[in-house]
Amino acid sequence: MAEQTDGPLGVGHDVKRVEDDRLIRGKGNFVGDISLPGMLHMALVRSPLAHAGIKSIGAGAATALEGVVAVVTGKDLQAHELAWMPTLSGDTQAVLATDKVRFQGQEVAAVIAEDPYTAQDAVELVEVDYEPLPVLVDPREALAEGATVIRDEKQGQSDNRCYSWEAGDAAATERAFADADVVVSLDTFYPRSHPAPLETCGCVADVSSATGKATIYMTSQAPHAHRTLFAMVAGLPEQNIRIVSPDLGGGFGNKVPIYPGYVVATAASLLIGRPVKWIETRTENLISTGFARDFHMHGELALKSDGKMLGLKASLVSDNGAFYADAQPSKFKAGLFHVVTGSYDLPAAHVSAEGAYTNKAPGGVAYRCSFRITEASFLIERLVQNAAYELDIDPAELRVKNFIQPDQFPYRTPTGFEYDSGDYERALRLALEKVGYEELKREREELREKGKLLGVGIASFTEAVGAGNHKDYDIVGIKMFDSAELRVHPTGKAILKIGVKTQGQGHETTFAQIVAEELGIPPEDVAVQHGDTDNTPYGLGTYASRSTPTGGAATAVIARKLREKAGKIAANMLEVSEEDLEWETPEFRVKGAPDRSVSIQDVAFAAYTDPPEGMEAGLEGSHYYDPPNLTFPFGTYVAVVEVDEGTGEWKVRRLVAVDDCGVRINPMIVEGQIHGGLTEGFAIAAMQQITFDEAGNCIGSNFTDYLVPTAWETPRFETEQTVTPSPHHPIGAKGVGESATVGSPAAYVNAVIDALAHKGVRNIDMPVTPAKVWEASEGEAAGKM
Ligand code: CDP
Repeated sequence: MAEQTDGPLGVGHDVKRVEDDRLIRGKGNFVGDISLPGMLHMALVRSPLAHAGIKSIGAGAATALEGVVAVVTGKDLQAHELAWMPTLSGDTQAVLATDKVRFQGQEVAAVIAEDPYTAQDAVELVEVDYEPLPVLVDPREALAEGATVIRDEKQGQSDNRCYSWEAGDAAATERAFADADVVVSLDTFYPRSHPAPLETCGCVADVSSATGKATIYMTSQAPHAHRTLFAMVAGLPEQNIRIVSPDLGGGFGNKVPIYPGYVVATAASLLIGRPVKWIETRTENLISTGFARDFHMHGELALKSDGKMLGLKASLVSDNGAFYADAQPSKFKAGLFHVVTGSYDLPAAHVSAEGAYTNKAPGGVAYRCSFRITEASFLIERLVQNAAYELDIDPAELRVKNFIQPDQFPYRTPTGFEYDSGDYERALRLALEKVGYEELKREREELREKGKLLGVGIASFTEAVGAGNHKDYDIVGIKMFDSAELRVHPTGKAILKIGVKTQGQGHETTFAQIVAEELGIPPEDVAVQHGDTDNTPYGLGTYASRSTPTGGAATAVIARKLREKAGKIAANMLEVSEEDLEWETPEFRVKGAPDRSVSIQDVAFAAYTDPPEGMEAGLEGSHYYDPPNLTFPFGTYVAVVEVDEGTGEWKVRRLVAVDDCGVRINPMIVEGQIHGGLTEGFAIAAMQQITFDEAGNCIGSNFTDYLVPTAWETPRFETEQTVTPSPHHPIGAKGVGESATVGSPAAYVNAVIDALAHKGVRNIDMPVTPAKVWEASEGEAAGKM
């Protein structure tokens, strides 16, 4: 625990999360809790087929059911030009299918009824006549010549290519490869996974026929951006749209896209004149909303025989499903995958990526990940481990030999990032020391002689979080900055309104701590408001660990601006010039006469009761922060696993995580973020599987098939930290929310591979199930690998 003092608990204190009191007592206010007078309920008819023409939709029986108010189809929406909508990646998506269905679970019609049970019953009565079409579930087959074109409604679309993109210097990389003594390659598939937040998606849309005002309570990680998109989709004037995103039961990227359900519920409320509520079931959430990953990756690392890395090539195929509907910055079609050079001083690199449309639900959301960085980090950390085996160099030492050195920052990577700060070796050495690396290596050899398998896996990741700056980062043209508005009241209490939107990360606590740090107002005196577009300044939302780097910075800057004004008021109160004052949180003191002071609370009162002559009254303001760069948190994770050769089962004995996210605002909350991420990373590495059969049926549509780890399976984590501040962030903080999901999968997989490496095993694709481990181990033994 950080030291607690009597002063305002600013940055660096383990302030208890203020939001937990209401959440733990069941007093949170989620979309599911919202009930409005006269409210109707909506349920969606979804396609059982992955690809089929729609010959007809029979709604007669459903409409006739008592309690049903309306059945809405794509044709109805077409009449209002609402059958298709733009996506946050600049594509289009069917709201309700008119011509065809393109994935299993696609929205075909909506039933609006007096209660949710009737709505669900009526869904069963809607008769849709489908004409099956060939199904494509493998992106590589979808990209092959002659494949059925899935998005045939798109003008100019003659194949299933959804994007092509590259970064880095292909010619320089070829030259680097020509100088190599060794080239290590890896083909690996990062499987489709799902963020699976505790709360599914939903909304209550309330369009007033009296005022035309649309109030939409919605599970949204990005309420302002969603408001703008709603204005564009529905043609409603933006000032008449209010999005309220109340308490959220997790998001992890799943609540970034705009889903058809939100749009249909809003259209239905507009047409019927009553509020309409729509809440997804778990299966609906798991089969139709933003999937992640689904990346086929080929990587090649060129090295000298002494271990010096020369160059890296990566080529990727991403499966984006039927609609490119996640949110990637428009310059970067494969997200920030080009961070794939990781923590290494690689002179040359080239990345090429192709996206494919397939008959699967839209994919590619940044599941607790900064736009595809998880996949990139996995590829480089797996490649480095295999290179170590190839060269017979210790994997830790191979990393140290190639790390970017502290004096090389700011460091420009061959694919175009400028890393802000880092000390990779320090984090690695601390992790090795904590885990007892040398001792473990000895134990591994001893156990092998006894026929037992122990593996040690390292991942030294670098993340890139906190988009923008505005020049490089936007979502459908909206620049990625963020904002904070701070109002200090006469009694010295404050309200902070922020553009970002917590989903459980604890912003109501940590953002108040930033105000406490900069302005001396205790965090318990600062109410943090978020998630209501009528009541907060514009922002791009919370995903990609961007809240601290952007909204946190905006908060620090506006607090500093108010402190500047407060200084002028204090000087007036103490009858000295501003230069004669010094700020010693939480008061202004006359230099050399510390007994002559005024507190920030005294100043706040004076701002409203006795401002200096000619000064505008009040103590409030807002700031839009355009970050000069991303922030680059990093760390080293070491997993130690025991593998049972007979069954292929593996158990995590230790997981040591050293994280560096610069200055920690609330170390306890940061630890919580890391524990959560390490758990999700473990789930992806060990057990999560969403597959599709040849007919496009989604296997993994419930928590029996799609496994979420419980306390029983979750390993124990040991966490450590180093602190390398970001030089450009006002308080030196970097984002951290996703570090552990990004960094840990490679550590777990590397550990299992390490246990089997002496048998020649070099790859097992995730999820690393006991069956796959057994097969790899036995296959090699039998000479089949
Ligand atoms: O955007 P998101 O909130 O998901 O990610 P983040 O900015 O990394 O922050 C996650 C949580 O950790 C927030 O409550 C932050 O205020 C907190 N945090 C912190 O206390 N210190 C840091 N250096 C980074 C984040």
